[in-house]
Amino acid sequence: MFLPEASNSARVVDTTFLFILWIEVFLLGVVTSAMIIFVIRYNKKRNPRSENIEGGPLLEILWTAIPTVLVLIMFYIGWRSFVHIRKVPEGAMAVNVMARQWSWQFTYENGKQSDMLRIPLGKPVKLVLHSQDVLHCLYVPAFRIKEDCVPGLETYLWFTAKEIGSYDIFCTEYCGLGHSDMLSKIIVTSEKDFDSWYSVKEAAVMIAQGLKLLEGKGCLGCHSADGTTKIGPTFKGIFGRKETVLTAGREREITVNEEYLKRSILEPQADIVKGYQPIMPKLQVSEDEVKVIIDYLKVMK
Ligand code: CUA
Repeated sequence: MFLPEASNSARVVDTTFLFILWIEVFLLGVVTSAMIIFVIRYNKKRNPRSENIEGGPLLEILWTAIPTVLVLIMFYIGWRSFVHIRKVPEGAMAVNVMARQWSWQFTYENGKQSDMLRIPLGKPVKLVLHSQDVLHCLYVPAFRIKEDCVPGLETYLWFTAKEIGSYDIFCTEYCGLGHSDMLSKIIVTSEKDFDSWYSVKEAAVMIAQGLKLLEGKGCLGCHSADGTTKIGPTFKGIFGRKETVLTAGREREITVNEEYLKRSILEPQADIVKGYQPIMPKLQVSEDEVKVIIDYLKVMK
């Protein structure tokens, strides 16, 4: 209606809400008009003497039956959308949500953590909600989703994002002084963008492992990781870099790829980057260690 319909729950919730709203508007109209008509028509000037009205069975049946049917229809529509909202499709991506005074933490299946909820477009996501301290409530107006986070109890909700964009997350259960600051965002990206973000954790691990190994082997004495030039070329942005190298005394242009890196690690004298001295010693490295080093160099942007 006024909000974007950014998830598959939006339509269901809006339909239910608007259906009930229009019935209410209709009933308000009927009751208010009847009141006004009665005030004018049966006022004292027009009816100096009061009459005793016995009642009408047909009228009484109608005003009992019509509201009953309306309420049952409201119940049916509400129940149908409730079932839809509670039934998580198989294969939904699970994200753990921890609410606390006063922030949100989202933990993914691969252990990646974030203070904003990043999700891929068009894929069902199940949020498993927890609270570390008091009652909170996760609310995303654009998605029409809302569920309490209860200490000691696991609750959940699910949705499929329908539009790329960034949407507000609110806490909508008063949880203390910082309640109104307990904000975050859902960031919906394409599946491709999501996957590249999702794998960054692994990259962080690769960097940590790689750095540790390179430090142990003494590589960082001559090669920097931050772009500064030392005795040897820097590791920063090395993968895919174009270099002029001296191979057996002849200059040639190369692009740094896996094969080149492996050769340079195992046979340091094979290719010498122009401008540097052929002083790198041969290292004692296992096949696995070479892989760790290459993984590290690949992600060293
Ligand atoms: Cu958390 Cu209000």
